[in-house]
Amino acid sequence: TDLSRIRNFSIVAHIDHGKSTLADRLIQLTGTVAERDMQEQILDAMDIERERGITIKANTVRIEYPAQDGETYILNLIDTPGHVDFAYEVSRSMQAVEGSLLVVDATQGVEAQTLANVYQAIDADHEIVPVLNKIDLPAAEPDRVKEQIEDVIGIDAQDAIEISAKTGLGIPDVLEAIVTRLPAPKGDRDAPLKAMLVDSYYDPYLGVVVLIRVIDGVVKKGDRVRMMKTGGTYQIDKLGVFRPKMQDIPELGPGEIGFLTASIKQVRDTRVGDTITHEKKQCQTALPGFKPSQPVVFCGLFPVDTNDFEDLRDAIEKLALNDASFSSEMETSAALGFGFRCGFLGLLHLEVIRDRLEREYDIDLITTAPSVIYHLHMKDGEVVELHNPADMPDQTLIDHVEEPRIKATILVPDEYLGDVLTLCHDRRGEQLDLTYAGTRAMVVYDLPLNEVVFDFYDRLKSVTKGYASFDYQMIGYRADNLVKMQILVNEEPVDALSIMVHRDRAEMRGRAMCEKLKELIPRHMFKIPIQAAIGGRVIARETIAALRKDVTAKCYGGDATRKKKLLEKQKAGKKKMRQFGKVEIPQSAFINALKMD
Ligand code: GTP
Repeated sequence: TDLSRIRNFSIVAHIDHGKSTLADRLIQLTGTVAERDMQEQILDAMDIERERGITIKANTVRIEYPAQDGETYILNLIDTPGHVDFAYEVSRSMQAVEGSLLVVDATQGVEAQTLANVYQAIDADHEIVPVLNKIDLPAAEPDRVKEQIEDVIGIDAQDAIEISAKTGLGIPDVLEAIVTRLPAPKGDRDAPLKAMLVDSYYDPYLGVVVLIRVIDGVVKKGDRVRMMKTGGTYQIDKLGVFRPKMQDIPELGPGEIGFLTASIKQVRDTRVGDTITHEKKQCQTALPGFKPSQPVVFCGLFPVDTNDFEDLRDAIEKLALNDASFSSEMETSAALGFGFRCGFLGLLHLEVIRDRLEREYDIDLITTAPSVIYHLHMKDGEVVELHNPADMPDQTLIDHVEEPRIKATILVPDEYLGDVLTLCHDRRGEQLDLTYAGTRAMVVYDLPLNEVVFDFYDRLKSVTKGYASFDYQMIGYRADNLVKMQILVNEEPVDALSIMVHRDRAEMRGRAMCEKLKELIPRHMFKIPIQAAIGGRVIARETIAALRKDVTAKCYGGDATRKKKLLEKQKAGKKKMRQFGKVEIPQSAFINALKMD
């Protein structure tokens, strides 16, 4: 295809501003999918995405559009995830296209992820077309939002296109703007093959499917190719494009986006950002590549029923095939038995994986408190990475502890600003900036990631009634006064409840956890002390009183079927408990004990 007839673009937006709905309309209007096959949110393939309305992996679709100039153009849309955990995936798919549609909900205006994502597009030198969505709603204020885009983002919004992705209003203008306002890709058809590995996923029938963007040269089915970073060589079995269903094509030339399969066994064999070239006639220089996405949040996943351990292992292996940013290693806990310590890109990623394990593989799980990676500077000069507070060595061997910090950007309506500042302050945040855009404040904080991984986002939503938006990036490590706090139930430490905490906040956190556990652990026939301790020193204590009389006595006598039913209920309830010493701890306690409210 002639390069001048190709346009490659992505859509950047804050969550819920209508990115997927717009993509659906573009696909529908160009007849890419027959009307009868059209289902909402066609690009969100996974069930869980559909249910939660979030896009997790980047997706792509090729659209043919007959423009007003009489020519037919090929439009390649790479759909990028909108959530903060996947910022890295946004950045890499941006490298594969030349332009972006910036979608802003005209009833909401610019939000934190609008900013984060649009800056990635600007960094990738994109041409950007602002699009104001949802103008069918009476609350839409396109003029105010245009002004805000100029003030806050600093791009020209004079020619922003006003649309309703829901009713279809303005969609033809978007298609024309893609052709007239976004640049065509550049590339040399006669040069040696140079293609970017944009993404990959595992398909049970095809093996690994690799999404590529050709820069120079031409790739054909049957070609032998080399991945320049990993050194692997493969023969291409299948070459094609997504429309959005897979469609085979004989070749892909410069500027084109498509997929290949080549009997690649696992996603880990494909490095995102790698350069694909011909085995024989190689290109001179590889693309700069990307840094691999590193897990930043860790937690333990244990089966509720210890008999499910093997199933959990299989399920985790299968998920890891398709998700190179998810890591796992076996872990044993005195309290919870055999399980896995897993690493995630962020909290949403954690939730998505946990949900998939529970739903797709039907395994009930106990999740331990999320933790970050601490750097322990030992007295002997060694630096140790701590992924699990339970593994914390003797404090006297440690010189100092460093923790990861983030730069958080929060946009919030004026009236909630005070609450947001209090929340950030309570989480040991340091304010870096505070500016206004109309009636919204934009505040930037330096915060310990540890204080954010738990329920920060939930708290932020609740103190602002859902009106705040939030985005963050890692900024590095800093030393602080951090200690390990243990929880003792009935005099014994429960390893799965250990956390790292700032010394000044330890007492408060310890007290809160003991109080929570007192509510969460049911009464037993004996009295149960619950203590929080640092080193050997107890800093907080609660006691669960003993049961006075045998309530189960009520079950005896009377109707036999009723008795059986009650016993079954008890058994089902028991499965959700963990025997710990003489005490039974409900699975929910492991995560709920940490909630701060
Ligand atoms: P993520 O996939 O989670 O990033 O969200 P998104 O940006 O793709 O948003 P999505 O397309 O799922 O739209 C969010 C909600 O807004 C859905 O309930 C849509 O039906 C609704 N919506 C999208 N466009 C319009 C519009 O033009 N008008 C109105 N009234 N509602 C819209």
